[in-house]
Amino acid sequence: MSVQNSFQNKLAPVLTIDGPSGAGKGTITQLIAKKLGWSLLDSGALYRLTALSASRQEVSLEDEDGLALVAAGLDVIFQPSGFGEPVKVLLAGEDVTLELRTEVAGNNASKVAPFPKVRAALLQRQRDFQQLPGLVADGRDMGTVVFPEAQTKIFMTASAEERADRRYKQLKAKGLDVKIDDLLVEIQERDDRDMNRATAPLKPAADALMLDTTGLSIEQVLDQVLSYVGRT
Ligand code: C5P
Repeated sequence: MSVQNSFQNKLAPVLTIDGPSGAGKGTITQLIAKKLGWSLLDSGALYRLTALSASRQEVSLEDEDGLALVAAGLDVIFQPSGFGEPVKVLLAGEDVTLELRTEVAGNNASKVAPFPKVRAALLQRQRDFQQLPGLVADGRDMGTVVFPEAQTKIFMTASAEERADRRYKQLKAKGLDVKIDDLLVEIQERDDRDMNRATAPLKPAADALMLDTTGLSIEQVLDQVLSYVGRT
């Protein structure tokens, strides 16, 4: 990286949005990035990609050294697409956008995420997203570990029941046959793994603003976040 680039990176403001699965971070991150014209980091995609790529290379999801090599060598391209569409993700040239969003991909991501060597292998890749005019970063440890100096940190939550219900509606709309009780159990198990791991556990940064989205519409959450970044 050139001296000029690293100088510019330091100046680029960062808004971090951390919280458990299904709290609405992804949707809000996209809306805010569009509204402010900032770039976007979906850090969960990197953990999902690591697990997916490992499975394809027959690396066990329990093999920390093997997984760290996979994470360091990820050949990934994020292609911005139309608004409301997920960012297109190419893994070694193959479009894995849909596969990455499945429940299996999310659960496998939370199995590789506790390994410190995996997290270390993905750290600089995430920091490289900090570019002018600004960055909105969505994840679990954006405000605590990856961008501890971010100007604005938000910790977004919602009750497990509401998160399961939102996920249920999304999957039903896609025509998938799912049971809400199963989704609730999966969400609680994933929260448990994310909050109780030793490295970079899911927790609010000391200086994070707490935002409980239970019962709020997307517009209400968006307004609240914009007021936090001083843009309303
Ligand atoms: O956000 P998303 O649901 O795509 O994340 C998938 C999993 O990746 C999470 O459940 C978590 O275990 C892991 N993750 C993480 N740190 C991040 C983002 C995601 O550990 N910054």
